[in-house]
Amino acid sequence: MEGEKKLEWAKEHMDVLSSIAQRFSREKPFKGLKIGMALHVEAKTGILALTLREGGAKVRLASCNPLSTDNDVVGALQDMRLEVFARKGETREEYYENLYHVLEMEPDIIIDDGGDLTTLLHTEYTDIPIMGGNEETTTGVLRLKVMKKKGILRFPMFDVNDAKMKHLFDNRYGTGQSVLDGIMSATNLSIAGKTVVVAGYGWCGRGVAMRMRGMGANVIVTEVNPVKAIEARMDGFRVMKMIHAAEEADMIITTTGMKDVVREEHFNVMKDGCILANAGHFDNEINKNALNNLAKRKREIRRYVEEYDLGDKKLYLLGDGRLINLVAGQGHPVEIMDMSFSIQALTAEYIAKNHEKLEERVYPVPEEIDYKVARLKLKAMNIEIDELTEEQKRYLEEWKEGT
Ligand code: ADE
Repeated sequence: MEGEKKLEWAKEHMDVLSSIAQRFSREKPFKGLKIGMALHVEAKTGILALTLREGGAKVRLASCNPLSTDNDVVGALQDMRLEVFARKGETREEYYENLYHVLEMEPDIIIDDGGDLTTLLHTEYTDIPIMGGNEETTTGVLRLKVMKKKGILRFPMFDVNDAKMKHLFDNRYGTGQSVLDGIMSATNLSIAGKTVVVAGYGWCGRGVAMRMRGMGANVIVTEVNPVKAIEARMDGFRVMKMIHAAEEADMIITTTGMKDVVREEHFNVMKDGCILANAGHFDNEINKNALNNLAKRKREIRRYVEEYDLGDKKLYLLGDGRLINLVAGQGHPVEIMDMSFSIQALTAEYIAKNHEKLEERVYPVPEEIDYKVARLKLKAMNIEIDELTEEQKRYLEEWKEGT
């Protein structure tokens, strides 16, 4: 019952995806096709899966992270006869078994988040012919590009992350809000007055830094990319090396997609009480092994808050170092996932219609899909915008005169 209501609430606020579902229901673009999905299994994802089924697909869904599943939603989707394989807190073995269940269906199209499903199709399930797939997130796209570079990518994949209607909103405003939600729910502590270190100034880091500042934190940014470091500085944040930032931090949030961003040398200089949270896809940004080795004792002091007692100080790791916005929060806001998942749905349709022309490489989402989702979203938001006049369009074609 709870799960059904969560789905109902999400659907009610996903206007763009709902309009796509209505069209899919008439046109059945996926008739006879199987779509295998590995995403964070929560209400918004459920609406995407149901939309694809509405379009005629047979769908199987597993989680892309052992701690991000909403069990109420799993139950509700199963009641609706959707094949879902996920449980919050599943072991590593269960996590992989669930991905195997998806692949045993022999999908035609895949929708992945983080790249684990895609990787299995290149290591264990190498004979399944795949028409094409979508990748949701920065980390997964990085993995795809390495696969392409090494010459092993064996089917076309679309980089959904870099679609404008995805990263400009999902990574920035989505992560900005949901990370705050997750940290506040886990800790019940104030953000105002804290020195918060944000590691990484990509779209997610920008969103987190912006929202933390909005809540009254004194924000420090750390970066390895000199251009992004200057952007952070010009956006008004202090920028410094992690070793110096860690000394000042009341809280550190990683958003980099890189491993070992916070490690032993940093734990050693932290103040008593420093809170550590990760918003990147994998739980390797904060080195948990090193933290475990330094700790004399460890206990769960609150749900999703692990206290590491190092003798001279205590450090607090949130959500076992996994994506805090999904472990302790509710994921990105519904209206934002409406845009990301509309891009997913339309790109999957594009694959179904165009797979014969596609090659084994990483494609950007076609621009017309980005603009279609933008226009549908504006309509849903009841916003009208101007159009260029014919005279203005001609001006765009002109190069001789500026007036
Ligand atoms: N909900 C479903 N997928 C999500 C994602 N990739 N990030 C945040 N919230 C989500």
